[in-house]
Amino acid sequence: MLGDDLKSLLDGALREIGTADAEGLEALRVSLLGKNGSVTTLLKSLGGMDPEARKAAGTQINLLKTQITDAISARRATLDEAALAARLAAERIDVTQPPRPEPQGAIHPLSRTTEEIAAIFGAMGFAIKDGPDIESDWNNFSALNIPAHHPARAMMDTFYLTAQPNERPAVLRTHTSPVQIRTMLNERPPIRIIVPGRTFRADHDATHSPMFHQCEGLVIEEGITLAHLKGCLSDFLSAFFGVPNLPVRLRASYFPFTEPSMEVDIGWSRKTGEIGGGTDWLEIGGSGMVHPNVLANCGIDPRKYQGFAFGVGLERITMLKHGINDLRLFYESDVRWLRHYGFSPLTPASLHEGI
Ligand code: PHE
Repeated sequence: MLGDDLKSLLDGALREIGTADAEGLEALRVSLLGKNGSVTTLLKSLGGMDPEARKAAGTQINLLKTQITDAISARRATLDEAALAARLAAERIDVTQPPRPEPQGAIHPLSRTTEEIAAIFGAMGFAIKDGPDIESDWNNFSALNIPAHHPARAMMDTFYLTAQPNERPAVLRTHTSPVQIRTMLNERPPIRIIVPGRTFRADHDATHSPMFHQCEGLVIEEGITLAHLKGCLSDFLSAFFGVPNLPVRLRASYFPFTEPSMEVDIGWSRKTGEIGGGTDWLEIGGSGMVHPNVLANCGIDPRKYQGFAFGVGLERITMLKHGINDLRLFYESDVRWLRHYGFSPLTPASLHEGI
């Protein structure tokens, strides 16, 4: 039991604590329990008492202190809870409310083409590879049987990067073919890969951009022939353009890294633009049987293994498929263009004709 003085101190304190707000509560705590607070002062006064009186008063003052401390904690808990409840009520969100109409994003036609190619070749057992935009001169040219000073280097309008005195020369890759080399140096046959990616040439007009995209293909196995090349390309092009039995023509050509070499043409109508209709031909890429020198450069025995390679221009086939007539629009990031030619992210690329 507390003496009357302490009792009235306690009653007064409890009354004030019971109605204090957060700030008031802190002030009360300081005035009661702080360094110079009334309860603290009482505790200090114990020092001057004789042992008997100290014992009795000590018990009472400590009881008083405990009751005040508990009351402050209880009030603080009540205030915290009320504050949280108020915040929850104020910040309530209605999860059933329909979202603000946001413009939907779209998949860029080149990304879409890449996805479709991956789906079609994936079904034929090809893996997807990539390589760096900055290539060594050796991977981009020499290993592909294009020696220094060969006219093919000039033909490709190469961007050269300035080399430091002891550095090997580097270029922005002019085609995806260096990934043939990277793959053959690191993997043994059988090899079946496609390589979609960025390529660079110093060229700029309505049909050429200094940065553009290609997709390389490479197959190295025993007993691979030109018939496999033509079959594979025909299946791919039919599936990609959604035209069964699309006419595909291989036209003799020259690339240093294939022998024999062929341009790949598809049938179309110049008049109507219809793919697979009409009697005209349109070039969409290069191809050939991998040159024995290239295999040997990568430590693959050309007497045991053969293979084919091809390179297709991604902008070219995308423009043809979707009737896009200016190459430069691919890179302008014009939202109106993208909305017109882009694809919904919710309808993924599929194999049109099935493989
Ligand atoms: N790399 C060639 C080009 O960019 C295309 C090609 C690839 C030709 C593979 C033959 C074999 O023109």
